[in-house]
Amino acid sequence: MSEKGHQMYEASLFKDKKLIKTPNLLDLESARKSFSWDKYWQEIETFENGKMNAAHNVIDVHSVGPNRNKVALYFEGDDGKTEKYTFGEMADLSNKFANVLKKLGVRRQDRVFYFLSRSPELYVSFIGTLKVGAIAGTMFPAFGEDALRDRLLDSGAKYLVTEEQLKERVYKVRDQLPELRHIIVVKKGADSSKGEICYETEMEAASSKFTIEKMDPEEYTYMLYTSGTTGKPKGVVHAHGGIVQQYLSSKWVLDLQPDDTYWCTADLGWVTGIVYGLMGPWANGISQVGYGGRFKPEAWYNVIQKYKVTVWYTAPTAIRMLMAAGDEVPKRYDMSSLRYLCSVGEPLNPEGVKWGLKVFGHPFNDTWWQTETGSILITNYPCMPIKFGSMGKLFPGIEGAIVDEEGKPLPQGAEGDLALKPGWPSMMRTIWKNEKRFNEYFRNGWYITGDTATIDKDGYFWYVGRADDVIKTSGERVGPFEVESALVEHPAVAEAGVIGKPDPLRGNIIKAFVMLKPGQKPSDELRETIQTFVKGKLAGHAYPREIEFVDSLPKTRSGKIMRRVLKAKELGLPIGDTSTLERD
Ligand code: PRX
Repeated sequence: MSEKGHQMYEASLFKDKKLIKTPNLLDLESARKSFSWDKYWQEIETFENGKMNAAHNVIDVHSVGPNRNKVALYFEGDDGKTEKYTFGEMADLSNKFANVLKKLGVRRQDRVFYFLSRSPELYVSFIGTLKVGAIAGTMFPAFGEDALRDRLLDSGAKYLVTEEQLKERVYKVRDQLPELRHIIVVKKGADSSKGEICYETEMEAASSKFTIEKMDPEEYTYMLYTSGTTGKPKGVVHAHGGIVQQYLSSKWVLDLQPDDTYWCTADLGWVTGIVYGLMGPWANGISQVGYGGRFKPEAWYNVIQKYKVTVWYTAPTAIRMLMAAGDEVPKRYDMSSLRYLCSVGEPLNPEGVKWGLKVFGHPFNDTWWQTETGSILITNYPCMPIKFGSMGKLFPGIEGAIVDEEGKPLPQGAEGDLALKPGWPSMMRTIWKNEKRFNEYFRNGWYITGDTATIDKDGYFWYVGRADDVIKTSGERVGPFEVESALVEHPAVAEAGVIGKPDPLRGNIIKAFVMLKPGQKPSDELRETIQTFVKGKLAGHAYPREIEFVDSLPKTRSGKIMRRVLKAKELGLPIGDTSTLERD
């Protein structure tokens, strides 16, 4: 979109933001001018000799003093049952889990993974893992067996916390995981004849006193697997020192204040759930809501009404789905507690921002970041006017630019690769066991995000698209290679090429072009069988909603499928340079 096009959406919304409270950040530009990370490190309690532990800042600091009896977590179960945990209780329970892990022989920087639905146990065990100095790794509960195996195998996870309904998927690949030693099962679902450990039994026996491990800020806290254009998902690793930025961005961007009740709708299997559904808000001592049920407009509005949610962080696909359900639905609920709304994960169209204003009296504020960046880097702020459709401006202390193929910054208004100057505290420290892949992120001293964007004269960033083939579907990141690999494992499939196809509701859907093996006939039935097969291997969100059977696929002379050509054909766009295309 041209600069002129962007300006069409420009509007000063400051007066319409209806800020009920004075924001934590009053003036972005002056904060930027006087900014230094050292200054905000003063707000993060550390131990002697520069040692620290993010779990201390997230929970333990609040468990002593006035917040001890403050609710840290309101948990709304699938069945409508409510559980409440204070900061004091979270501190004690996570200490207990840390002791459970110690008893099982966990050592510093061992990997403890979770394949668990959203539940209080997931929050508790995550914090407990950090307390023993181990690395926590979460996995989305919808993952299929291949997705699980790839993550557990690559990370060399020794410990897995799971639940009865999910553990069978782990057993399908158990024999391929030589390093996995212990399976801990929550909610009394453990089968001792299989050597499984019962979470409740161990927690009951464990002491609630634990001496937290003193970590170097560069030692690792959590890791998350995410997709790129090529290869299997890669393990993005984060460090304890990231907490300063998780804390500060929650304060300035989400504007969290002591009496807020905050709800982040993301699953803890994704980075948004970990950073802004657990660590950052708790580092600010904020009461959070966790919801264990499925997405349903009525159920979501009910959560807001029941817990009097004031600050709400969600995603564009959810906003579009709520919009599609109709404006009448929220009118049946009391939404008056809401005061600030944010969105992340995919482009937030101007319609979404405006719909927030219309229905809740507040716009959705777009925020941009990635699994790799570890916290919000480009964003709107309560103190700043929104330009409809823009992602907002850089977070203080962050330098960003649009660069060309050589990594040279481009002039204002030009479209190119969105790049950031590395070195912010929450940035990923490495790709697990793959330094080469980590190094590929950098060009001429810049971290290259994989997104394309422009910057306008006022310093607002505008998202253009992905520079690579990564697909964002319903806000979730899927690599075409993973889907293609799962497809070709189906006995009827010879070859497959996968692209993201724009979709009004989900942002993109996954579309596969499939070449069948000789003798196989395309049919609706086969299409469905293949879809179910991929769902079982990867995840519910990662299967191709559309499959087109084709006789051949465009390939380079070296045999690589040209997704670019598939995409151009699908969208009716010019195919571009085909000089490397294979010819008969
Ligand atoms: O393409 C951008 C898109 O999501 C990617 C990062 O995905 P992931 O690592 O899964 O993290 C998602 C949540 C932190 C980005 O490279 N993305 C994220 N936020 C936005 C966005 N695209 C447009 N607008 C955004 N606000």
